[in-house]
Amino acid sequence: MALRLLVCRRQDVPPESCLAFEVDGLDWPVLVAQVGGRFYATTSECPHEEVSLEGGRRSGTRIECPGHGYIFDLATGACDHDPHLCLRRYRVSFDGDDLYVDLISF
Ligand code: FES
Repeated sequence: MALRLLVCRRQDVPPESCLAFEVDGLDWPVLVAQVGGRFYATTSECPHEEVSLEGGRRSGTRIECPGHGYIFDLATGACDHDPHLCLRRYRVSFDGDDLYVDLISF
């Protein structure tokens, strides 16, 4: 059974933005992006090395790590530069305007 954690409110993430939120119990903030009306949530920890993706250049669901420039897709977790790397994603759900993530990634 997944642990459901409150991350933010829907209106905290304006359309086409990507923001990081501290969540109790997690070592790294959760990145939440709203792209094309859909919400995506991932860890902010780059799977290459321990660098935060927060503030990385973004285009749509793609974000560039400030560390070495690898590009990850927030929707799939896929990495353009290394097929063995995958960004940890979280399933998003809402209760009213409260945005939750499931702690178990998919
Ligand atoms: S630390 Fe992110 S690409 Fe190397």
